[in-house]
Amino acid sequence: MVPILLEGLKRLEYRGYDSAGVAILNGTLQRVRSTGRVAELERLVQQQALSGAIGIAHTRWATHGVPSEANAHPHVSGGVSVVHNGIIENHEAMRRKLRKQGYEFVSDTDTEVIAHLVHANLASCGNLFEAVRRAMGELVGAYAIAVVCEGDHSRLVIARHGAPLLIGLGDGENFIASDASALVQVTQKMVYLEDGDCADITLERVRVVDAKGGMVERPVQVSQLSAAAVELGQYRHYMQKEIFEQPMAVANTLELVTGAGTVLPQLFGTDAEGVLHGASSVLVLACGTSYHAGMVARYWMEGIAGIPCNVEIASEYRYRISVPDPKALVIAISQSGETADTLAALEHAKKLGHEHCLAICNVPESALVRATDLRFLTRAGPEIGVASTKAFTTQLAALALLTTVMAKLRGRLTPEREAALLQALRHLPSALSTVLHLEPQIRMWAEKFAQCQHALFLGRGIHWPIAMEGALKLKEISYIHAEAYASGELKHGPLALVDRQMPVVAIAPNDVLLEKLKSNLQEVRARGGELHVLADQDTKIIHGEGMHVIRMPDHAGMLSPILHTIPLQLLAYHAALERGNDVDKPRNLAKSVTVE
Ligand code: F6R
Repeated sequence: MVPILLEGLKRLEYRGYDSAGVAILNGTLQRVRSTGRVAELERLVQQQALSGAIGIAHTRWATHGVPSEANAHPHVSGGVSVVHNGIIENHEAMRRKLRKQGYEFVSDTDTEVIAHLVHANLASCGNLFEAVRRAMGELVGAYAIAVVCEGDHSRLVIARHGAPLLIGLGDGENFIASDASALVQVTQKMVYLEDGDCADITLERVRVVDAKGGMVERPVQVSQLSAAAVELGQYRHYMQKEIFEQPMAVANTLELVTGAGTVLPQLFGTDAEGVLHGASSVLVLACGTSYHAGMVARYWMEGIAGIPCNVEIASEYRYRISVPDPKALVIAISQSGETADTLAALEHAKKLGHEHCLAICNVPESALVRATDLRFLTRAGPEIGVASTKAFTTQLAALALLTTVMAKLRGRLTPEREAALLQALRHLPSALSTVLHLEPQIRMWAEKFAQCQHALFLGRGIHWPIAMEGALKLKEISYIHAEAYASGELKHGPLALVDRQMPVVAIAPNDVLLEKLKSNLQEVRARGGELHVLADQDTKIIHGEGMHVIRMPDHAGMLSPILHTIPLQLLAYHAALERGNDVDKPRNLAKSVTVE
């Protein structure tokens, strides 16, 4: 069991890597924890020759309490041991209550509350499953938990509320994890729990009870995920692999239209035609990189489909008093489909009366996909690098399709224009491959950027969100402070920052704003700023003193933002490598933010 647990942790390490731990039942409860990476835990586990048939393990992304061995999971109380994803919101009140009962806390985590609570319940009811069920009644917040107990070597009890949890069915053995990628090493048969479910798992059987306490059968799904899809293969890093997979990922996402002469609304769900036709406006909800995809979509939706479009940061929208338009189509964009803020924003929109919601998501079994009536699954394949790359470009491909459908339904697309857009989409994977060939030139830029403390990214119109995405990529993996501005804003403040020490990246497509952008670039040059320009062919932006130009292919029209993303991803990747950073696991971050 121990090697399976460690392999599972390695496969999920990208989701949190502050510390790791494992607890095994083998006569007594044996626990090993370490700060840092799973490799370190593995060394300790081997040193201590840990073994046994039942156990739990965890990698942590710190929310309550610093990354330390004391705060690492599993947490214990007597013979009870718990791993937990999520946040227990009432942990302070629970701590006070449990302290009064004589429990002592040895960590700063909210999770330790669960261990003591289950222990207290077990003392009064004598049954681990019942003890966890009772704890669920008292815990407020989001959690996926797994519990083992020294006195009962036959079972594992798990519970889910607001954080993903699934069971892998084996032959005479069963497994649990927060993500299928941890389990494909042992089984393809998965059972996804619903919120409020509590399950009793033994070697031979699985028993699931829902929030109301009734026995339920959750469907068994055969995961399409191959073990190879989550392996590094020939690449040095997952981020590198995922950047170079983009032509294929986008081709897969667009597969349903590549052979078609027209784009059908049904791509987004069986009822999509009526819903999309009836939408009075669009409201996009998302976080981080997915939010940037939404920002690009706004230009498409309003400019091509002629439908009003608002884009909101999910964590802001969920707490903002807004004026809802119930006929607005809500589009939630998320790679993981488990981002707590995006899920909560979607629920908030539903409560405000929004009638229809569409998920654009990369994970078919995710909470987001289950929470919406319409959906489009991007087919990027698993994204392991913490910095989102192929998820973003496939989201944009999906949003380009949606725009085409909306434009058509609103009578804004002639058959000729539709055919031209489809042709451009078909050509996109090969255009992406061409741009990837610019890597050697980008690497030269990256060597210089790696020496800097700050960088500025400029774009206009639909390329402004691409500048934002470029700045986000650079800061999150190279730790270089990067800001993005709509270049017309430069003179309203940020120009004051420009000097020789601050490289400026400009996205210069050959579009209607080109001449305006060129004036903005002159403003930078006049102040001694070093410009790094991604310029389409025929822009007449010439390489020279303080002006470094990388020539992009011909202007790609509507799809230009997708192509201009690639060099910015490569710039961040190489700058981070130059600085010796762990590109796949940048400090302080984790993939899939399932806490608020
Ligand atoms: C940045 C990045 C994050 C995510 C954000 C939303 O590279 O990966 O900004 O985009 O946390 O995640 P999803 O798309 O899973 O909802």
